[in-house]
Amino acid sequence: AFEVQLASSGRIVIVPPGQSIVHALAEAGVAVMTSCEQGVCGTCLTRVLEGTPDHRDLYLTPEEQAANDQFLPCCSRSKSARLVLDL
Ligand code: FES
Repeated sequence: AFEVQLASSGRIVIVPPGQSIVHALAEAGVAVMTSCEQGVCGTCLTRVLEGTPDHRDLYLTPEEQAANDQFLPCCSRSKSARLVLDL
């Protein structure tokens, strides 16, 4: 499991194994717009302010993924214990 923190409120949401970040956020009442939920459409693109995403999408270029300042939370996860998101 890892944590995502919402920059706007400071709130922390735990993301357990087997649950997507988008679904963990939805359970916490935080809606992120999605469409494909498979990392291909880019609808859920979210800015990452701190932490290192574990990119699992097919939307960003390798260069964009390597910058680690945005990710697709419908399918991607975290390599760090916490991600701070621009939400
Ligand atoms: Fe399509 Fe996340 S919903 S990339």
